Amino acid sequence: MRKIAIVGPGRVGESTAQILAKESLCRELVLVGIDDGVARGIALDIQESAPLFGFDTKVSGGADPALLADADLVIMTAGLPRKPGMSRDELRDANLAVSRSVVANVLRYAPEAMLLLVSNPVDVLTYDAFKQTGWPRQRVFGLSGVLDSARMASFVAQASGFSVRDISAMVIGGHGDAMVPLPEYTCINGIPIKHFLDAKKIAELIEHTRKGGAEILALKQTSSAYDSPAAAIAAMAEAIIRNRKRILPCVAILEGEYGQRDIAMGVPVVLGDSGMEKVLELPLTGDERRALNLSADSVRANLAAGT
Ligand code: 2OP
Repeated sequence: MRKIAIVGPGRVGESTAQILAKESLCRELVLVGIDDGVARGIALDIQESAPLFGFDTKVSGGADPALLADADLVIMTAGLPRKPGMSRDELRDANLAVSRSVVANVLRYAPEAMLLLVSNPVDVLTYDAFKQTGWPRQRVFGLSGVLDSARMASFVAQASGFSVRDISAMVIGGHGDAMVPLPEYTCINGIPIKHFLDAKKIAELIEHTRKGGAEILALKQTSSAYDSPAAAIAAMAEAIIRNRKRILPCVAILEGEYGQRDIAMGVPVVLGDSGMEKVLELPLTGDERRALNLSADSVRANLAAGT
């Protein structure tokens, strides 16, 4: 991939940029922010680590939206973060306004790009960006399940004592309190976790996963999580750049899958160099489907309330 742009070089954006550069995932990386000096300074800082990490990615930054020109992938991390005690949904109207102005610039300067939304509430922002761009759904998607599933996998590793390398978790639904962790699709080297953990422990893991983002915010007080979100964004970017065809849970526009349409929320998809190449429909139990419908209702109510 030639060029990646990150709009919003806050903590998530900066950490993402560091990983993308360090892993040489693109030839050119631009950081676009509202403060020209901050964006340029962060870019320079990362660029100066190049001799130590050995990457040739050219990193630049600034406030000029023209920096987005011809980006292949735009990662949208701009907007307000949560404060302790806030839900992601409370950021809706402020972050919709930010997102709409970013998307207008993307349409102007990088009309062939793929757009990866990260700012919250991500399901609402992804659907809104899809409508605003008029692009095919393959090119507009969001981060949620890769992060939520990483959280769940890390809790499963702690609870089971097994290596995180063998654990894959699956969390679908909206990226909010009603998200739907799927223990039947959460395995240790292919073996469902129910063979290792009892029902009470699994219920605790599910609750812990749902509260994972809020837990970090409550501990830090002045910042949401950013290391694991950045690693999750980089995993999605890597799947696209290297055309891996990975199956990852991402926020996708639904066109009838899981009985849902006119909505974006987390579902397993195939990520490759065309972006969100396919939505995969998993067989769900009655309880899982009810939980997913509730999560969709909550995303839909938030979408309807958006201004
Ligand atoms: C999280 O879950 C910030 O929504 C992000 O940590």
